Amino acid sequence: MKASIAVLPGDGIGPEVISESIKVLEAIGNRFNHDFEIESGRVGGNAIDDYGTPLPQETIDTCKDSDAILFGAVGGPKWDDPNADVRPEDGILAIRKSLGLFANLRPVKVYPALINSSPLKPEFLEGVDMMVLRELTGGLYFGKPKKRWNTSRGRRGVDTLKYTESEIERILRVGFELAMERRKKLTSVDKQNVLESSRLWREIAIEVGKDYPEVELDHVLVDNAAMQLIRNPSDFDVIVSENTFGDILTDEASVLSGSMGMLPSASLSSLPGKSGRRTKVSLYEPIHGSAPDIAGKGIANPIGCILSTAMMLRLSFGMNDEADAIEKSVDAALAEGYRTADIASDGGSEVNTSTMGNVISGSI
Ligand code: IPM
Ligand code: MG
Repeated sequence: MKASIAVLPGDGIGPEVISESIKVLEAIGNRFNHDFEIESGRVGGNAIDDYGTPLPQETIDTCKDSDAILFGAVGGPKWDDPNADVRPEDGILAIRKSLGLFANLRPVKVYPALINSSPLKPEFLEGVDMMVLRELTGGLYFGKPKKRWNTSRGRRGVDTLKYTESEIERILRVGFELAMERRKKLTSVDKQNVLESSRLWREIAIEVGKDYPEVELDHVLVDNAAMQLIRNPSDFDVIVSENTFGDILTDEASVLSGSMGMLPSASLSSLPGKSGRRTKVSLYEPIHGSAPDIAGKGIANPIGCILSTAMMLRLSFGMNDEADAIEKSVDAALAEGYRTADIASDGGSEVNTSTMGNVISGSI
């Protein structure tokens, strides 16, 4: 099969983890006879330096002409001036918004080989297997007004948590559909004791739930959800939440998997569907950031990005066997004791980013 993929490495460790994912993609192409056409694009701080914008038009065109986008990470201290007009992060936010990628799937599971890499006690980790569904194009990230200004009584800043009925309904439907394919349990996270947008969210969750009588629907306040994620993580099946809540909860949930570097994600503009090729472009990226503290050292964990590549093959191209092959290779590398620095606390053999990529691509 022919497939065109826009690859946007970005800043910091983004290019390092993307290189390993390309190795994996090439191994899959060879074994399964696929022709992946890879086109790179600039995004983030490095694009600000060279083009004055975190998302040059050329990159937008490359993304729109592709079947799927594989994204690394953006940001870094060099571009962190709070008074800057443009930020690297604006690049990824603009891609998500302009392609309508409202549904962000972040699977969280525990690898038996990594149980001791998590700071949590092993008995809390048993059976953890959840999907966090984060709304990605609304809420606090995009609501207007969003600005800072000076007044006679000092400086002010505002962000707006706004959702429309249709935005809430479509993400909840994805949540229910995902739950139907899994253990039929949906936890809707909100802050309805305080926030008006959450009260609307909960009302709509109950309404949409009537179309899915088989799914057990729970409502949990976000602060309580943050606690339950650590106390009873195996209770969760699918979690659905507002954009910012989902951002925060998934960094927290990554501790269950052993490291931020382990978690992949898929950002879609419609229901995942059961199989087959997607007609609309979707984006795949690890949930971690550009990690400027370790960038350039060759020690980043490429697994989150490699697993994002597997999600791309499965969800954008219907390549289930290919995605399974990647996930199996990751499992095998971990079971054999290969560890990047972030997951090395259990005494496995510590390897750098590129060796981890070689081991995983080598066994495909
Ligand atoms: C994520 C990241 C991004 C977000 C940043 C880089 C804008 O934290 O994908 O979780 O907040 O969505
Ligand atoms: Mg985040």
